[in-house]
Amino acid sequence: MKTLALLGMQWGDEGKGKVIDHLAAQYDITVRFQGGGNAGHTVVVDGRKHVLHHIPSSILHEGKTALIADGTVLDVDTLFEEIGELRKAGIEVTGRLLIGFGTHIVMPYHKELDAASEESGGQKIGTTKRGIGPCYADRKARLGIRYMDLFDGKALSERLSKSLAEKNCLFKHLYGKPAVDHAAMLKICEAWASKIKGFGVDTHSFLIKAISESRTVLFEGAQGAMLDTDWGTYPFVTSSTTTASAIPQGCGIPMKSVDHVMGVVKAYSTRVGSGPFPTEDTGEIGELLRKRGGEYGATTGRPRRCGWLDAVAGKYAVTVNGADSLAITKLDVLSGIGDLKVCVSYGFDGCFPDPRNPREPKPSYKTFKGWKKDISGAEKVSDLPAECRTYVDAIEGLFGARVSLISVGPDRRQVFEKG
Ligand code: GDP
Ligand code: IMO
Ligand code: MG
Repeated sequence: MKTLALLGMQWGDEGKGKVIDHLAAQYDITVRFQGGGNAGHTVVVDGRKHVLHHIPSSILHEGKTALIADGTVLDVDTLFEEIGELRKAGIEVTGRLLIGFGTHIVMPYHKELDAASEESGGQKIGTTKRGIGPCYADRKARLGIRYMDLFDGKALSERLSKSLAEKNCLFKHLYGKPAVDHAAMLKICEAWASKIKGFGVDTHSFLIKAISESRTVLFEGAQGAMLDTDWGTYPFVTSSTTTASAIPQGCGIPMKSVDHVMGVVKAYSTRVGSGPFPTEDTGEIGELLRKRGGEYGATTGRPRRCGWLDAVAGKYAVTVNGADSLAITKLDVLSGIGDLKVCVSYGFDGCFPDPRNPREPKPSYKTFKGWKKDISGAEKVSDLPAECRTYVDAIEGLFGARVSLISVGPDRRQVFEKG
């Protein structure tokens, strides 16, 4: 497979960073194509933990190219914090980190608007407050500031004037906050421009050329299918397309550029923020999964809501994405928990409620025998207890895609091919 896409099949935090790091050794280029600093992708190598928000999770592999493509939204300060953390670990990004010219920049007022909207009462989405929604809104409203605009003083000033006229109305009249100063924003952009100028690339030409020269490309999704703006649990979603169709759009390449789509599935379910979560367990099991799985947000530190695996949402995610195979993560977390449950029906056809369905899914479960053995040292399928293999086979059947990878711990080495 020359080009492989890896996408979350649940509500994010499936372990995409871990799997990308595992696969990255075989790929020349890794691309982030949507989302922004809301993502928190964890990679653990020799006990050292790295959390990546913008930079593709392949960056720990020497000599590999990492591209932040135009479909993303970029918080320049967070990016430089990430670069700083990597440098502390002896990893240099210069010369192999690229940023698409059309990547939109998350401005300070996007973050303020995100926070103000969340705090203004009414329906709370529980966003990461990274300015994602307001930045994508400006992108579509044609008020956004792109990477390339940082280097064009006149265009930048005009775009800012138009955008701030609107934003300052909101700050003054809706949120009762001070106005954003045009000159101050220009100054911030100038400082960012000088820091970031060496990283720019024409994403479309770069990837078309790379693929035509048979260079291998890995596409790293952020968030998960159920957080997709259009196909997730709207309005409790993020503001980007988190499914495979975001790849051609975010990179300026044809749909047929992706040879294989691999979905990442955590062996149980988690969600951060508000919104439907049919299998959520607010009792003992939820608490146990949170504790054993270390289920706290990699970006915000918030405790994640936890529950049993949801094969209805999973099958839907596989179908929406056209997933060819699956990587199962965190299987080790289920060792010693006792019997395991998997949701196999909501009590109506389809996935999330549409006007023809009752509003509330009523999950019914299939029970699987658990296993006691610690599997974190497993290196092949035959090292897994029979009950665990049955659980993996059931995921294949219920989700409707074969399992190709199994992860049994956070470390780079704790993963193997199912075969
Ligand atoms: P991502 O956003 O999809 O990359 O996932 P996160 O990094 O936000 O959350 C996944 C968490 O689980 C991280 O702390 C990983 O280090 C950890 N992790 C990944 N795979 C495994 C696994 O197989 N077993 C265990 N125990 N932890 C894992
Ligand atoms: P990774 O890539 C889990 C959730 C937020 C909130 C909703 C909207 O690490 O899997 P936003 O800030 O995007 O406007 O928030 O989406 N969310 C995530 N949940 N993992 C993520 O990314 C997420 N990115 C956003 O918690 O419910
Ligand atoms: Mg995450």
